[in-house]
This record gives sequence, structure tokens and C-alpha cells, in this order.
Amino acid sequence: MNKDILKNTTKRLSASPKGILAIDESTNTCNKRFEKLGVETTEEKRREYRELLVTAKDIEKYISGYICFDETVRQSTKDGKKFTEILKSKGIEVGIKVDTGTKDFGNIAGDKITEGLENLSTRLDEYKNMGATFAKWRAIYNISEVTPSEENIKANAESFAKYALLCQEHDIVPIVEPEVLIDGEHSIEKCYEITAKNLDIVFSTLKLAGVFIPGIILKTSMVIAGKSFSRQSTPEEVAEMTLKCLKENVPSGIGGIVFLSGGQEDEQATQNLNAMHIKGELPWPLTFSYGRAIQNPALKSWAKNPADVALAQKLLVEAAERNSLASVGKYK
Ligand code: 13P
Repeated sequence: MNKDILKNTTKRLSASPKGILAIDESTNTCNKRFEKLGVETTEEKRREYRELLVTAKDIEKYISGYICFDETVRQSTKDGKKFTEILKSKGIEVGIKVDTGTKDFGNIAGDKITEGLENLSTRLDEYKNMGATFAKWRAIYNISEVTPSEENIKANAESFAKYALLCQEHDIVPIVEPEVLIDGEHSIEKCYEITAKNLDIVFSTLKLAGVFIPGIILKTSMVIAGKSFSRQSTPEEVAEMTLKCLKENVPSGIGGIVFLSGGQEDEQATQNLNAMHIKGELPWPLTFSYGRAIQNPALKSWAKNPADVALAQKLLVEAAERNSLASVGKYK
């Protein structure tokens, strides 16, 4: 483990006013989004769409790293340039999602455990040779009367620790992504309680396992009311509760914190991040790592008119720019 390499990578990834773009939807998830918009679900269509995302001009002004899926990290443009080489030539860090998805955990419906530790060391060697400097592992938590159970939180935390250590042994920065899902009828207070408990367990497990905390990035969900709750949270409420939760449960020496958009409306995700930065100085770099909240306008436009790649790329870069402004509290 080379701590300087890890720290320098987290610094480049969290450089203000940039954020990370997630384009690591699994084939299944990508196909579902394509189907909704009437796009053919072939490997070539996925490649064509990802080419648009990777080659967008000037995106590097707002984006420090792209998180890719295994299929994407191996793909090239129509005229044969490797996506990874294009990203590197723009100074964008190449990231790779390395978990292989979730499965049911234990006997309580709704608890999920993330898989992907098998062969992880070999896969990391390969991704490193392709130029990856960071990785991502996502666990999900459903909020209900009985979930997530403490055993489930602990089991996911153990996997985060094993994954993070393996990444760091390869000098690859691990993004640790515990996502408390926004689906459900829970209040913002309930989301706070679960997020706080989970982060507390995740960080004590990481520390105990010897993970180098300045060499990781936390990718978290915001503290926010469930989508079906009767009263939706305002940006001020989200900002206040999220910052309190992070200040109380995340070590101040962490390499950086980024947010997923997690099914929030695009504008809402931007406003919420902006509201956090209006509140003043923070103890860690705090920015976005959105997938949908940045890709949505571009994907819809391209699905409707695949020939107009320039328009889709313009919409993508504009969405990245809006979130870049929010990451310094200057979004209006
Ligand atoms: P969303 O912003 O669409 O939630 O995607 C981010 C991500 O990487 C989820 O794992």
C-alpha cells in the first residue's frame, strides 16, 4: 500500500469545483433505462451511448473521474480509440465498479448483501493495468420497520473493509458506497437514524481492519425523507441533517465525500448539494458523484434523436456544470 499514491488520487478526485460522474450502470440497469426510452438493448447501443458520455468536449472542467462498468472499461470508440485512453488524455481518472451486485441476506425480507469479493484481487490487477486509479463498491439498505437489521449492516461493513483493503493493496482508491435507499414512506428523521448508525458501524469496521482512511472516498446517500413520505424534505432540511450526520459519523481525515443522486429529481439533487455548501466551511471535500442526475437529460435526448450526439453532449456538460456550481454553493 503506497499511502502517497492513495492520498494524491483522492485529492485529484475531490479537486474543487469538480465531481465524479457515475456511468457504471450494470448491463441490466442500463438495459432497463434504455427500454423505458425505446432504445434497443444491445452491446453496440450501450457502447454508442457510453462513447457519447466519454467523448463530451469540456466535461473535464467539471468532472474529475468516471466510474465505469466492466463492459465499458473494455470498449472503444467507433473509430477504435479506447475509452480509458480518451479519459486519461483529458486528465480524467478512470474508475471501476467492482462489486457484482446484491442478493438477499438472512431471513428478513429487504435485507441485501453485496457480492464480488471472489477473484477481486485478480480483477484489480487487470483493471490497474487498464489504467484504473479508483474503484467502487455499493451496498444498499432498505428502510422498513425491520430493515436494515444490525446483522445486515455489520455483514456489509465487513465486505466493505475486505474490498477497501484489497484496493489499497493495489494502490487503487476504494469508494465505499453505503446507499440508504430513498424508496419508502420513512421520515427524514428515520433516514438520519439509519444513516448515522450505518456510517458509525462502517467506519469502526474499516478502522479495525486497518483501512487507510485518508485513502478512501465515501459515497453516500443524503439524509432525506422517503419518496412516498407525506412531507418531502426541503434543501435546507436535507443540508442540515446530512451535514450533522456526516460531521458526527465520518472521520475528518477522510479523502473525500461524494453523493449519489439515488433517484432524487435532477434539480433536487443539485439544490441539495448547493444548500450544503452555502452553510460555509466543511471538514472534508464534499461533492457529487451522480449518475442519473447528470446523465438524464443527455440520455433522453439521445434516445429521441440518436443522430444528434452534439445536443446530447451539450446537455450532459450543462448538467455537469450545474452540479459543479452547486459543489461550491454558487448554483442559482
Ligand atoms: P445515481 O446518482 O443515479 O444514484 O448513481 C450513482 C451511483 O453510482 C449509484 O450506485
